[in-house]
Amino acid sequence: MSEHFQLIKKDAETGARRGRLKTLHGAIETPIFMPVGTQATVKGLTPRQIKEDVGAQIILGNTYHLNLRPGSELIRDAGGLHKFMSWDGPILTDSGGFQAFSLAKLSKLTEEGVAFQSHLDGSKVFLGPREVMTIQANLGSDIAMVIDECPPYPCKKDDCVKAVERTTRWAKACKEIATDNGFLGSGHHVFAIAQGSEFEDLRRRSAEELAELDFPGYAIGGVSVGEPEPEMLKQVRATAPFLPEDKPRYTMGLGTPPQMLKMIAAGVDMFDCVLPSRVARNGAFFTPDGMKNIRNSRFATDLKPLVVGMENYTCRNFTRAYLRHLTMAKEMLSCTLLTLHNLHFYLNLMEQARARIEAGDFSRWSASWIERYEAGEK
Ligand code: GUN
Repeated sequence: MSEHFQLIKKDAETGARRGRLKTLHGAIETPIFMPVGTQATVKGLTPRQIKEDVGAQIILGNTYHLNLRPGSELIRDAGGLHKFMSWDGPILTDSGGFQAFSLAKLSKLTEEGVAFQSHLDGSKVFLGPREVMTIQANLGSDIAMVIDECPPYPCKKDDCVKAVERTTRWAKACKEIATDNGFLGSGHHVFAIAQGSEFEDLRRRSAEELAELDFPGYAIGGVSVGEPEPEMLKQVRATAPFLPEDKPRYTMGLGTPPQMLKMIAAGVDMFDCVLPSRVARNGAFFTPDGMKNIRNSRFATDLKPLVVGMENYTCRNFTRAYLRHLTMAKEMLSCTLLTLHNLHFYLNLMEQARARIEAGDFSRWSASWIERYEAGEK
């Protein structure tokens, strides 16, 4: 067993695991969802709301964005990202290469890394293993991600082989850099990212090559890049079993509530997704009967909370009619209250999943949870 990750219970019927991951800013109970705070803020919420009302245990930040603005040296000089944004819980940061490719202008990938023009002012920027590990050390991330090459979907097998091989080389370089600069070894973690697109043999190869390098944790990348949901789940299931059992596993950028339950059953421990916070800004909210939109006229005179009996600040204090009024009037409090509800809904689902794994009835519970949710979406 690894020192920083404790497997508390393994589900007898599925691959689900109940675990505990120790970080420099406290322990994380898994399975867990991590709210996304790309720009050193979970949009619309104060850190106190994120902690006390949402119940988040860990949040995400992003190397790509924070390096461009305000710059990682400024954040380092301000005492690190935790102090800069006044969040004292754990922070995981993505490495930035993936975003450089999807967001920047004119990005060019070479063996050294990704050269691109900033989407903000067109300035030339380069991110390779040394840059991403230095930036994440400046930020003081509890969990830093390696730089990886995420092939597009679909892609040719030859190109995917090259991406998998480069991803392993870059992971190795990142680990060496983080060891030499003292980041690893002082309680910070670095997670590797497995790729392989839709090719099951390459998914396995990527997972096994990275497992060999003995990282503190592992992510499954290259999912949710345009493939249909069954394909996404197939890729997660083709990767997870080949990652070390005694290390945390994280799928990047996913998912919906049913997808997360299915991935927990496949042995995944950590998730992040912009979905709950992004859709809240458009009036959507989560319920056990699916996602609804508060703009719908049927909520105009509805004096019930978003979810009856749900214990969060939004549901305890506000009616659907009031929240619809705020949304229609484009009041910013609507974004705050719906974001708070949606993130709490996600965190609460993870809490239920943990309890069911511990109780030994995860499989039955999750099947009926998904059935009700999907029936409500129809
Ligand atoms: N976020 C979502 N998918 C990915 C991925 O494949 N790699 C990285 N680095 N970040 C991601």
